[in-house]
Amino acid sequence: MNQISAFYTGPGRLLAAISSALDAAGVDRKTLRAADLAAVDEFHIRGRRATVEIIEALALTADSHVLDLGSGLGGPARTLAEMSGCTVTGIDLTPEFCEVATALSEWTGLSGRTMFHIGDATATGLPDESVDAAVTVHVAMNIPDKPALYAEAFRVLRPGGRFVVYDVLQGEGGEIHYPVPWANDSSTSFPATLEDMRAFLPSAGFDVVSEVDSSDESLAWFQGMLAKIQREGPPPVTFSTFLGDSFAQMTANQVANLAERRIRTVMFVCSRP
Ligand SMILES: C[S@@+](CC[C@H](N)C(=O)[O-])C[C@H]1O[C@@H](n2cnc3c(N)ncnc32)[C@H](O)[C@@H]1O
Repeated sequence: MNQISAFYTGPGRLLAAISSALDAAGVDRKTLRAADLAAVDEFHIRGRRATVEIIEALALTADSHVLDLGSGLGGPARTLAEMSGCTVTGIDLTPEFCEVATALSEWTGLSGRTMFHIGDATATGLPDESVDAAVTVHVAMNIPDKPALYAEAFRVLRPGGRFVVYDVLQGEGGEIHYPVPWANDSSTSFPATLEDMRAFLPSAGFDVVSEVDSSDESLAWFQGMLAKIQREGPPPVTFSTFLGDSFAQMTANQVANLAERRIRTVMFVCSRP
């Protein structure tokens, strides 16, 4: 296992931990919906709200086949499938995340429309022009070779298809405070700058349709999450279920990173000509 998937892999039994946390919170498994898991499986800043923005940008139909590069625990894939009726293939480097994503889709009745495979987002092995849309959400910070990632997205996307990138970028405020939810230190963290992204995406062949900076909303989201936890206690399942005790420190660092503009969150909507 490489250093990146080792970072995301917990001490084991992640599915069992999620299962018992849901039981303890009295969540009825028979009526479980994708949204009930959002606090643990929408593993990116602004959670499900950001995924809904991605769906709006993709203009999907029930016939669409979407590729999710770096699909994690599968929250974005399930939200996409549930809200638009589309089919999603997720590719992720971390085997445990793929296993748990598959099980969570079974629990929520979405296993027929969401599939998860272990693989590298820079070399998916999918045929050329085989998907109608592609997304990547908070993944490129872990990938040093970003031209390879965007070239792969371009290759597998059919002409006219849309590609949405929602990622954490290096801000102008200086070095990132670590640990953060994607890395313990800078050895596995490679955030691009806005200027890098403005070069990478067109170089891969994409037309960039829009670029939206949500950094202020991201800061408000983290502050709101902290206030809610202080008021009501943690939700039944959280990112700390797999990130462990350092998640509290990571959250505090993310608030500082956003407030000091050391990071920013930006969504790029692209189209393959
Ligand atoms: C912060 S999580 C985001 C997961 C998911 N996109 C979401 O928003 O819920 C980052 C994910 O990227 C995956 N990842 C990192 N590098 C990758 C690579 N080269 N190929 C595929 N997945 C990768 C990790 O295993 C992890 O699941």
